[in-house]
Amino acid sequence: MIQVSPHLPLTALARDGQTYQGELIAISEVSARVEWYKKDLSLKPTDIQSILIGSDSNPSIVFKIESSMDGLLSFDKDSQPEIRDFLHGLRKSQHLDICANHDVEHSSRRNGFEDVELPVLALPETAWADIDTSVSFLGRIFSAPILITGMTGGVAQGTIINERLAEAATAHNIPMGVGSQRMALENEAHADIFRVKRKYPKLFLIGNIGIGQLRSKDYLDFCQRAVDMISADALAIHVNVLQELIQIEGDRDFRGIIDKIGHVTTKINLPVIVKEVGVGLDVSTAKRLAEVGVSCFDVGGSGGTSWALIEGLRSIDPIIRRRGEVFRNWGIPTAKAVRDLRQALPKSSIIATGGVRDGLTVLKALHLGANMAGIGLPLMRAAIEGADQSSKLLGAIIEEIKIAKMCSGL
Ligand SMILES: Cc1cc2nc3c(=O)[nH]c(=O)nc-3n(C[C@H](O)[C@H](O)[C@H](O)COP(=O)(O)O)c2cc1C
Repeated sequence: MIQVSPHLPLTALARDGQTYQGELIAISEVSARVEWYKKDLSLKPTDIQSILIGSDSNPSIVFKIESSMDGLLSFDKDSQPEIRDFLHGLRKSQHLDICANHDVEHSSRRNGFEDVELPVLALPETAWADIDTSVSFLGRIFSAPILITGMTGGVAQGTIINERLAEAATAHNIPMGVGSQRMALENEAHADIFRVKRKYPKLFLIGNIGIGQLRSKDYLDFCQRAVDMISADALAIHVNVLQELIQIEGDRDFRGIIDKIGHVTTKINLPVIVKEVGVGLDVSTAKRLAEVGVSCFDVGGSGGTSWALIEGLRSIDPIIRRRGEVFRNWGIPTAKAVRDLRQALPKSSIIATGGVRDGLTVLKALHLGANMAGIGLPLMRAAIEGADQSSKLLGAIIEEIKIAKMCSGL
């Protein structure tokens, strides 16, 4: 069960015509936990037929209830497709809320870069104006070796967040990924959240789907629709097995996924990036992916945002919360993942994501063999904070890259 914060007001209708008011405090894929308002307690809510979440004047969704016992109401989501959309949106806004307001990073905060030393050049005979941060990546020239890694901004805030990030990426001429497009592929009404190229047509935009979507028999069509929806320049497929295993409702069967990724690379006429999201891509997985045609990897190593922890924090179930803490620091540190992958796959493109927070770390990542560094959480927080905050942060990071380049001679 996931905790709903802040709790959502609801009205329940019983079979005898009686109505009750309460709050949705937690919800899973099959049941909702409700706290009834005190004034209704003299009437014991029984035999609930439906609940309306939201207010009467602004209803967001009606759930048909199969059975109710005290505050626990069961429903069948498969017979009510709109519930899936509601739960999906809720999950995304919880992710955003947790990322904005909690410490969600690996607690040991070791992404491996703390042990990487760059050469020091005490007296570089160079001019600041001649320090060049530009880089060639996936067929385009960008002004700096960084990208905004794909992050979902949810339904309510998604449009404004994506717009702010797109503006920042365009201003600095760097690529940007969008977050998972699943909700828009399942419900076209959400597609505009991702269509930032309408306003920023020059942006190099990376589409995003998860391995969960590859389980569907229409997965090739799904990928093509994701690309077409946003006129993407590349497609990222995120691999998030640990996150799925922490979630009660997450996927548990990943058989045949690597071959399917291979089919996507041959079918989609664009670069395909396989990205981990905080656990790190290991060499054997990356080699298998390279065999089926993948040539760009985002290592998504440990030491940055911890999705195990975030999923734990979404739950009121103590077992799930414990799971999140136990696996908070699981994974291959980003620096190690980059070093190992570069050694194993010398010709592949490698993105170093996972705990990259400044320009010095970006240069360390490049020194270890990455082509680009990806930055997530701090740019998302900056976009939430204000209109030009993500652009300012990117500007600061690019200046740091220049300082690091000048002082190291790299
Ligand atoms: C709020 C938020 C939402 C995210 N949503 C997605 C997503 O939808 N798809 C995806 O591939 N990665 C997603 N990520 C993961 C990031 O792309 C990135 O891999 C991860 O946050 C590690 O980078 P960081 O340590 O710089 O945050 C999300 C990250 C954040 C912080």
